Amino acid sequence: MVQVVLPNDANPLGFILGGTVMHLIDIAGAIACHRHTRSLLVTAAVDDLQFLHPIKVGDLIILKSRVTCTFSTSLEVQVDVFSEETLTGKRLLTSRAFLTFVAISQDGGRVRVPPLVVESEQERRTCEEAHARRAERLKKKTHSSGI
Ligand SMILES: CC(C)(COP(=O)(O)OP(=O)(O)OC[C@H]1O[C@@H](n2cnc3c(N)ncnc32)[C@H](O)[C@@H]1OP(=O)(O)O)[C@@H](O)C(=O)NCCC(=O)NCCS
Repeated sequence: MVQVVLPNDANPLGFILGGTVMHLIDIAGAIACHRHTRSLLVTAAVDDLQFLHPIKVGDLIILKSRVTCTFSTSLEVQVDVFSEETLTGKRLLTSRAFLTFVAISQDGGRVRVPPLVVESEQERRTCEEAHARRAERLKKKTHSSGI
């Protein structure tokens, strides 16, 4: 996804709002997961998010998303966010987010997601790492479920 940062998206410093970036990350992640599952989805988790560089009004914000691993009824997607200066083309990675989506049916039941075809050694490693992140997420969920 590519869009230009407009004044309406910005804080008084002229940088895109963090909440706007989070919204776009959710959308970009959902698109990749919808294309993989062709199912209804809800966002179950967004891992720690950092904003490494500001993105200023007039810059482009570029979001690249890809499914990293599928589980049973859930899947993980990685979203990388870049800023790009329109006049120079200088591009910086500003955030990397991992999100988990759960596939649901119209009546709210769970739906199995199609397995991801893992073709390269890099993709296999990425999926292994996703399994480790999933275990951490579910551990945190167990710890916070008493809130
Ligand atoms: C996300 C949600 C569906 C999980 O429901 P649940 O009953 O706690 O979880 P279930 O036991 O049915 O598990 C379903 C899947 O979600 C995964 N999951 C549940 N909570 C999770 C979390 N916090 N992080 C990552 N994965 C999670 C489970 O591991 C399971 O995946 P698997 O089948 O691939 O192993 C439910 O909490 C919910 O509807 N939350 C609100 C979602 C929402 O409104 N999002 C924002 C708008 S879309």
